[in-house]
Amino acid sequence: MMGNLNFKVDESKCIHCGLCVNDCIEHVIELYGNKVPKAVDEKNCIGCMHCFMICPVGAISIFDKNPDSCEKILSQSPDMLLNLIKSRRSDRNYKQENLDTQTFQKLKDMLKWVPTGCNHHKLHFSFVDDIQVMDELREHVNNKIINALTSKPIKAVADKFAPFTKDFLNGEDIIFRGAPHMLVVSNSVTAPCAKEDADIALSYFELYAQSLGVGTCWCGFGQICMMLFPELSEYLKIPEGYKSQYVMLFGPKNVNYARTSLPSEVSISTAEKQGFEKLSAMKTAKRYFWNFIR
Ligand SMILES: Cc1cc2nc3c(=O)[nH]c(=O)nc-3n(C[C@H](O)[C@H](O)[C@H](O)COP(=O)(O)O)c2cc1C
Ligand code: SF4
Ligand code: SF4
Repeated sequence: MMGNLNFKVDESKCIHCGLCVNDCIEHVIELYGNKVPKAVDEKNCIGCMHCFMICPVGAISIFDKNPDSCEKILSQSPDMLLNLIKSRRSDRNYKQENLDTQTFQKLKDMLKWVPTGCNHHKLHFSFVDDIQVMDELREHVNNKIINALTSKPIKAVADKFAPFTKDFLNGEDIIFRGAPHMLVVSNSVTAPCAKEDADIALSYFELYAQSLGVGTCWCGFGQICMMLFPELSEYLKIPEGYKSQYVMLFGPKNVNYARTSLPSEVSISTAEKQGFEKLSAMKTAKRYFWNFIR
C-alpha cells in the first residue's frame, strides 16, 4: 500500500451504487450496514484509485485526494490518435535550441499517469533539460568511445561500436543524433516489471511529445552507453539501487513529414475454440526454450 489510505466517503453524496466495491480488485472496500462503503482490508490496497475515479457522485476521498480537483474525462478522437500513431517517426534532425519551458513542464507532468506493473510507480526520470549539459555529456561519451576504438581499445566498447568507427572519427553524433535533450528512465532493480514500466513510460512520453510537435528518438545506443559508462548514472542523478532501463532523445523538430507511413503487414493470429492439443515432448521442449531463452 502507498501511504495512509484514509478512505473517506461523504455520506451525504453516496448513492449506494456499489460501483467502487465492484471495481476494487483487491477487495479492500465493502458496502457496510447503511450501504456506505468502508475500507475493511487496508493492507491489500495497491493505491490504484479506481474507487475514487469510478464514483459517479465524487463521494470518495482516498490518500487525502479531493475528487473535485480532477479533470472531467473528455471524449477522445480515435482518428486523431491513430493518425498520430501513423505519423510518428524517429527524429534525428533537431533545432539546436532548448525546448520551451511550458512544453517541458507538460511532458514532465504527464509522467505520473503512466501505468506500472503491480502499480509499483517507482520509476525515476532523469532529464537533460539544457543543450549545454547535453553537449557536455555528448562530448564525454563520444571521446570515450573514440578513445576505446583507437588508442586504448576496451573490448566491451569496441565490440558494440567498431562498425561505426569511421562515423565516430568523422565527428558524427552516432549515439545522440544531435538531440538537445535526453530522458533516461531508470527503475528500482527490485521492481516487478522494471523494463516494461520504463518502456511503457517512454512510449507514452513519445506519443505525447509528438502530439506537442516535439521530435523523439528511441536510443538503444544511449542505453548501451548507460550500461558501459557508470559515471553517466551519477551524472544523471539516477538513485542508488536503480538501473537505467532505456533512453529517449528529444527536442524541437527541424523536419516535418508530409504524410503518414505505409508499413508492411504484421503477423496476427486469431485463436479458435478447438480444445487443447496434447503436445509432443519436442513441441513442449521447443516452447519452453523460446519462452525462457531471454
Ligand atoms: C527499442 C528501440 C531502440 C532504438 N535505438 C535507436 C538508436 O540507438 N539510434 C537511432 O538513431 N534510432 C534508434 N531507434 C529508432 C529505430 O531505428 C526506428 O524506430 C526505425 O528505424 C524505424 O523508424 P521510425 O521510428 O521513424 O518508424 C530505436 C528504436 C527502438 C524502438
Ligand atoms: S485504491 Fe484501488 S485497491 Fe485501494 S481501495 Fe481503491 S480500488 Fe481498492
Ligand atoms: S461509488 Fe460512490 S456512490 Fe457508489 S457506493 Fe461507492 S461511494 Fe457510494
